[in-house]
Amino acid sequence: METVKFTAMKDGDKEDYDFLTEHEIEYTKGTADRLLTALVSLDESLSGYQITRLGHSLQSATRAERDGADTDWIVSALLHDIGDIFAPYNHDEYAATILKPFVREQCTWVVEKHGDFQMVYYGEHVGADPHKREAYREHPYFEDCATFCERWDQSSFDPAYDTLPLEHFRARVHEVFARTPYDPDVLRAGVREPLTV
Ligand SMILES: [Fe+2]
Ligand SMILES: [Fe+2]
Repeated sequence: METVKFTAMKDGDKEDYDFLTEHEIEYTKGTADRLLTALVSLDESLSGYQITRLGHSLQSATRAERDGADTDWIVSALLHDIGDIFAPYNHDEYAATILKPFVREQCTWVVEKHGDFQMVYYGEHVGADPHKREAYREHPYFEDCATFCERWDQSSFDPAYDTLPLEHFRARVHEVFARTPYDPDVLRAGVREPLTV
């Protein structure tokens, strides 16, 4: 069997779907490498800053690591802007969707909201509401997102910073995306791990 027998999904039988499930499992193993390749393509996106989007992503992750943050934080920092490629108007949600099955709920929430939180730094210059984050003031992860933006995101556009290369983060990305998706012991709903140690 090299392909399924059906041409419309409703006509598939158990053999077809067992076959597809096996293929999906195999394909899923390549997620980490595909994400690393996508990060490299960020190098060509969105010019005008003093560093590329890849440089910004690496610098965010480097700062997270040097702050003593854990793997979930470091990989989240590395991927937080990966949505820039295909979702320029909701890049934060796009990145959060990729991370959601594999990292702590806290990190997914912070990545999902970071675009709104970042407005405090430049909203007034682009006609957006600088206080957009206030809508989440009572949320348990509010301070975490504020810290993420202050220490790792808004600060990471510095070409003079000693940023670690993508290779440095490869093993961590593989570790995260090899986890069992939606494992409650990984998602740890409600748990807050510090961004700085
Ligand atoms: Fe962003
Ligand atoms: Fe960013």
